[in-house]
Amino acid sequence: KNIAVVYGGDSSEFVVSVQSGKNVYESIDRDLFQPWLVEMKNQTWKVVVNGEKIADVDKGDFSFTHNGQKIAFDYAYIIIHGTPGEDGILQGYFELMNVPYSSCGVHASALTFNKYFCCNYLRNFNIPMAKSVRVMKGRPVDAAQLANQLGLPVFVKPNAGGSSFGVTKVKSVDDLEDAVQKAWEESDEALVEEFIAGAEFTCGLVKLKEQEIIFPITEVLPKNEFFDYEAKYTKGMTDEITPARISPELTAECQQLASRIYDLCNCKGIVRVDFILRDGKFYFLEVNTTPGMTATSFIPQQIAAMGMDLKDMLTLIIQDGLR
Ligand code: DAL
Ligand code: MG
Repeated sequence: KNIAVVYGGDSSEFVVSVQSGKNVYESIDRDLFQPWLVEMKNQTWKVVVNGEKIADVDKGDFSFTHNGQKIAFDYAYIIIHGTPGEDGILQGYFELMNVPYSSCGVHASALTFNKYFCCNYLRNFNIPMAKSVRVMKGRPVDAAQLANQLGLPVFVKPNAGGSSFGVTKVKSVDDLEDAVQKAWEESDEALVEEFIAGAEFTCGLVKLKEQEIIFPITEVLPKNEFFDYEAKYTKGMTDEITPARISPELTAECQQLASRIYDLCNCKGIVRVDFILRDGKFYFLEVNTTPGMTATSFIPQQIAAMGMDLKDMLTLIIQDGLR
């Protein structure tokens, strides 16, 4: 079976996706599958071997031709962070092409990649989370009113984005507008969020047709003021402890919450749910439906902490999805 490992994308997270894609590609079991790296960027989709393009992808049937031979992909492992791989757009293409893929479907991807929609949906189910206000691009920013409503500090984030691009922790009302402008560079909507003082925890999980696997939790201790881009991707800038040093009861609570959110959002494939723990209570931050898979990312760490090989995990997922 020919497996397309689809990476790249059109957001600032392209650079992260290159690393994630490489790690997934290298971890796919060659005895069972034939993996191919497929880079997607700005409407150009190409098959890459040893860093060189060998063919363009035929979007009409998700195939390519190499040395006169036509190869059709049987499955897509989506490892694009951000648009179009995490927000439902690419999922729609694969649905139309009838190609099975690794991630959440169209609706779940679109819902979870829009923080405002996802939070408002999950609030109906009494999932604890920070208060937040959405500010549409180009609208006036009433910084004093926002600070009054949410307190200070606040987090200002792009409503649709990842890897902390465009995220600012704002401590003074005078800095709020600039932070919103910065978030708008990544997304047409900014989210201004109440600050929940606590430690960050993250839980990966996957639910397959015949089994569900909830990973050990990671405790995230950034050396920066918050878990920003530098803290996320610079070695030594964050202590990441898996399994988290919390009680078995709190661990179970976090895993159950992640599992409940997975079901409520109708997720598929490997998903990672992020939380802040304050005073013994987990506050929902976000759902990542194509979580980082670089060699040092949380998901590979959590899989390793279970004593499992990433290779075997990928085999389970691909076999589950192949039809
Ligand atoms: N958005 C990054 C890749 C993550 O959630 O891991
Ligand atoms: Mg994220």
